[in-house]
Amino acid sequence: MDIDYLKNELKKVLSIKRYEHSIRVLETATNLASIYKANNSKVEIAAILHDYAKEMNNTEIRNICNIFFKEETKDYMNVDEILHSFAGVYFAKEKFKISDFEILNAIKYHTTGRKEMTLIEKIVYISDAIEPKRDYPHVEEIRKLALVNLDDAILFEANRKIEYLVKNGSIIHLNSVDMRNHLLMAKAK
Ligand SMILES: [Fe+2]
Ligand SMILES: [Fe+2]
Repeated sequence: MDIDYLKNELKKVLSIKRYEHSIRVLETATNLASIYKANNSKVEIAAILHDYAKEMNNTEIRNICNIFFKEETKDYMNVDEILHSFAGVYFAKEKFKISDFEILNAIKYHTTGRKEMTLIEKIVYISDAIEPKRDYPHVEEIRKLALVNLDDAILFEANRKIEYLVKNGSIIHLNSVDMRNHLLMAKAK
């Protein structure tokens, strides 16, 4: 699929700020794809489309989740931050006719993560968290870690994000906790 076409489509639905974020995620993900020898075209498509639904109308996003992703989203209906990832999958399938599960799952889990993510999912997940304009405590350490060990970088980021969500009194998706626990257990083996 032509990335320039996808970029143009993205421009139509996102603010400049979010569009530029998507481009930085694409660049970060492409770099990681070359380091970890991932399928670059799949990584590119997932990275550029990951936030396609981010600025869509909340009602529309909730309707899509309710119809197509009910089981996975029913406990998180008020958490727009989580729902846009699922709605993104809907548009990837319906509008862009993407059927590749690795691409669709990388979009679906880019916010929450999940246990046993594929390489492509991991790359998109961490690229979203470490693109060059991200600025939060320890981001530089996570960036460096991502270049040498993706799982360690994701574990560090998940711990930090979970702490942040608890401090803010925010909902945490069970997938994020599951991902963090699995990475921790795998490390202890
Ligand atoms: Fe997102
Ligand atoms: Fe994003």
